[in-house]
Amino acid sequence: MKEAETILKADHVTKSYRDLQVLKGINLEIKKGEFIAIVGKSGCGKSTFLRLIAGLEQPTDGVIEQNGKAVGGMNPHARMMFQDGRLLPWKKVIHNIGLGLQGNWKSKAMDVLCNVGLGDKAAHYPSNLSGGQKQRVALARALVHQPELLLLDEPLGALDALTRMDMQSLIENVWKTNGLTAILVTHDVEEAVRLADRVILLQNGKVKMDKRIDLPRPRLRTQSAFIEYTEEILEQILNPRAENDHAPNLKVISNSSY
Ligand SMILES: Nc1ncnc2c1ncn2[C@@H]1O[C@H](COP(=O)(O)OP(=O)(O)OP(=O)(O)O)[C@@H](O)[C@H]1O
Ligand SMILES: [Mg+2]
Repeated sequence: MKEAETILKADHVTKSYRDLQVLKGINLEIKKGEFIAIVGKSGCGKSTFLRLIAGLEQPTDGVIEQNGKAVGGMNPHARMMFQDGRLLPWKKVIHNIGLGLQGNWKSKAMDVLCNVGLGDKAAHYPSNLSGGQKQRVALARALVHQPELLLLDEPLGALDALTRMDMQSLIENVWKTNGLTAILVTHDVEEAVRLADRVILLQNGKVKMDKRIDLPRPRLRTQSAFIEYTEEILEQILNPRAENDHAPNLKVISNSSY
């Protein structure tokens, strides 16, 4: 079978804010169609890395390439979805989705709204939607631009457990049916294992772990292999070992968020 082509490459990417070096030479290659999850402790630079990919900021050193071309300004092939949705409260749902579109935008916006299961909410204002519905609209707003790359910065972080599971299935479906490449930042290791082909752990500004999740989809949290992957990744996050440290690791706790 022909190997998928590389869509995104980070080559020795460094990012500093004044004297704080957040990313210290990130090397990463992502294949077209892959689902990547990025995990790591708060403040380790996950959102910073996504902003660099989106072209919202530039690396201090090194380069990010999409399809072989350096991401200069705003990356036109990527769309980002945030934890808080960032909908405009004074615009109806359909106009939030159509923002920045021209021509026959309404039918396109309506199509994606139906794809996320909210065809009946077009004329509502965001304030009349639940948290999960707002995130569906935010997802539709990203999808309407048919991006090659979908960047998700903890998009489900504020949702309750059941809504979260629904949204995970929705994200998996739109990723598959649209042939997207997705990069999801999450604090929930189970969510990462549930969705990702590879889980990347950022630690001390570097890629500490790049773990391929070799499980068929849809994945079940109760499978023993699923649990083993989750525990292995959690252990790396919670018990970062220095190079020459042979002290016994702490037992991994059962909650999969850290
Ligand atoms: N614009 C900025 N100016 C100065 N420092 C910044 C800026 N943006 C981020 N930082 C710092 O860079 C570090 C990484 O921030 P970042 O938001 O990428 O972390 P994160 O891994 O996404 O954390 P969290 O899981 O809490 O969202 C933090 O120490 C943060 O304070
Ligand atoms: Mg963040």
